Amino acid sequence: MAAAIRNLVDRFQNHSETLPREPSAGEIQELRDKYEKSDQSQVFAFFDELSQTEKTRLFHQLSNFDPIRINELADKALNPPKAEETSVSLEPLPEVATASILDSDPKDIQYYYDEGLNLVAENKVAVVLLAGGQGTRLGSSQPKGCFDIGLPSHKSLFQIQAERIAKLQLLAKKKSGKDSLIPWYVMTSGPTRKPTEEYFQEHNYFGLDKSNVFIFEQGVLPCISNEGKILLESKSKVAVAPDGNGGIYQALLTSGVREDMRKRGIKHIHAYCVDNCLVKVADPVFIGFAASKKVDIATKVVRKRNATESVGLILQKNGKPDVVEYSEIDKETAEAKDPKNPSLLKFRAANIVNHYYSFEFFDSIETWAHKMPHHIARKKIPCVNTESGEIVKPEKPNGIKLEQFVFDVFPLLSLEKFASIEVRREDEFSPLKNARGTGEDDPDTSKRDIMNQGQRWIENAGGVILTEADAVGVEVSPLISYGGEGLEFLKGREIKAPAIIEKEE
Ligand code: UTP
Repeated sequence: MAAAIRNLVDRFQNHSETLPREPSAGEIQELRDKYEKSDQSQVFAFFDELSQTEKTRLFHQLSNFDPIRINELADKALNPPKAEETSVSLEPLPEVATASILDSDPKDIQYYYDEGLNLVAENKVAVVLLAGGQGTRLGSSQPKGCFDIGLPSHKSLFQIQAERIAKLQLLAKKKSGKDSLIPWYVMTSGPTRKPTEEYFQEHNYFGLDKSNVFIFEQGVLPCISNEGKILLESKSKVAVAPDGNGGIYQALLTSGVREDMRKRGIKHIHAYCVDNCLVKVADPVFIGFAASKKVDIATKVVRKRNATESVGLILQKNGKPDVVEYSEIDKETAEAKDPKNPSLLKFRAANIVNHYYSFEFFDSIETWAHKMPHHIARKKIPCVNTESGEIVKPEKPNGIKLEQFVFDVFPLLSLEKFASIEVRREDEFSPLKNARGTGEDDPDTSKRDIMNQGQRWIENAGGVILTEADAVGVEVSPLISYGGEGLEFLKGREIKAPAIIEKEE
């Protein structure tokens, strides 16, 4: 069934390989009228001079959009309603909805871990990877997940994550005695789908069972001019862009992923961003924490470093869970101290886009997905001038891309259905955003954070790391240790950094 759905979706989405059905003259006229009525008829400016194949493709591309809805989105984005002068109340999440790996009783954390691992062993846990971004700041020609951050093993981000899944399956099997499977749903976009699929195939799915890895594609939205008009990339193609990582919810439906989860009896889902090299994929502590709180969504957060760090904060805004960007809060709020512990900031829960969802919540996507807002990104969008037919390569932003953010769903929940757990930054969060040499969130910081973590794990297990000059750190293969466990065999051993531990010997 799942394979059948996937094939169907493949056939719909693989526009480049199969030519869709040729539309009738009546169907074309109907579509023209629809765009005409919406004042978007410029998309047909060159239609009559196109070849039959081009006409067919453009017809199908335009049929996928609803110009009335696009107009509404563009209007809201370009002319946002003036914020009402109502007062905004910001508070940290209630204590009952939070936990912290840093401060909690280790017994509680062990309890969550055991609960979470049981759920993994019962095959109730799935993983969704957000990998549809184009990684413009990193500037790699391949999808970000294929990137080699320069570890001694030269493993890519995809491989590291796949091996963590494989290891966790083994840990669960060890506990329950039964085979455990964690399906991995990888969301790509138009630009990243094909290279991602090829990369997984070339690397034999990194040792995972291929039937548990699903690569699917998020949707796109047309690019809009500053005047609200849909832009053409060429005479026969609308300029489009991925609909942002918030496109995940719609994509779970259209791709058949949710149905596959249902068929497998999945109850708990971990979703994360491809660029975090330290991500604990399907982390049992996180799953156990969220499941025991019986929430619809939980998030991991790290402690904000200081009042001026530019991070989004997870908190309650007017009584609803929300993310507030650093630019949206005033100095006084940013600097406020926690009344219970004045050495800490009151608002310190930094968002790392690492989420838990209950399957039940995914089962209600149809009832809330349309309520999520669209954000605008002003961009230089190459396009065709629909009057002269000339290609325009703009020097300054000439239009907007519409995007949804994955966390915009939070305020749609009631506070009791949301929870958050604080984790150690050095153990769980090191994003790859920028090109090498930037010095921040770049390949070198990613590599450093993995190597330092390996060194800490080995030292905790009683190993001795010998370092010389700037030669530091040890890469511990995820196939050996998921989160620092199982390294007792290194007790008393001397290891010269930089090193790599790939086998138990
Ligand atoms: P970012 O917003 O950091 O974007 O994505 P990016 O594409 O990685 O990098 P820049 O901004 O172009 O430099 C955060 C996460 O959301 C995913 C990304 O793949 C990453 O895991 N994402 C982003 C999507 O899945 N789809 C999108 O349309 C955008």
